[in-house]
Amino acid sequence: MTSPLPPTPVPTPHPVDTSPIALTPAYGDDLDPVWAAVVPETRARANDIHLPISLAYAERLCAGYPKADSLLVRVSILLHDTGWGRVDESRIISEGFSGAWRRAAIRYEHEKQGCLIAREVMPPLGYSERFIEDVCAIIDGYDTRNEARSLEDALVRDADRLWRFDQAGIALASDWFGMDPATYCDRLAAEIVPELLTEAGIAMATAALVRSMALLKTGVLR
Ligand SMILES: [Fe+2]
Repeated sequence: MTSPLPPTPVPTPHPVDTSPIALTPAYGDDLDPVWAAVVPETRARANDIHLPISLAYAERLCAGYPKADSLLVRVSILLHDTGWGRVDESRIISEGFSGAWRRAAIRYEHEKQGCLIAREVMPPLGYSERFIEDVCAIIDGYDTRNEARSLEDALVRDADRLWRFDQAGIALASDWFGMDPATYCDRLAAEIVPELLTEAGIAMATAALVRSMALLKTGVLR
């Protein structure tokens, strides 16, 4: 079940864990059957790095927003980019990360494919039709629709962005966008932090970016 989205950035009264994400990997093994069902799709576009890190961030975010349906957020972030595994790989970089990439057709295609994968892999694992439709409602548009439609949608969007502030995300995404790490870090601060929808997400992103820029010596390597 989704919850209404309060005005953004959504405040949280709870303390926010801003420590390195490697200290709190995704908990439990309840989603292992879902992971196992999408292994081939995790091989595209570094999903096998991005998705586990973003799931860990999603769980931290949910701790700050207990009204959110955490299972819906966790499953949605796990599956949200699997559609990249079923589109033409050569178009991912050429269309998905250059020029007018935010409106590229390949981005809509990967959302549609992600929903097809969710509807394929989740019923045999016992997830209800209603739950699967809620997952698809988040996946279909998380990357191409301007606004989040629920608190869970907002948490998935922030978890999707937060991994980029970790050094692993900077290493991969700076290469996708053809930028050096320092330039990419500047872009994270100028463009991606303002897109975040939760105060917890902003706190995590800001702390991670400070750490990553120091670690990567972006002050001089520019
Ligand atoms: Fe993503």
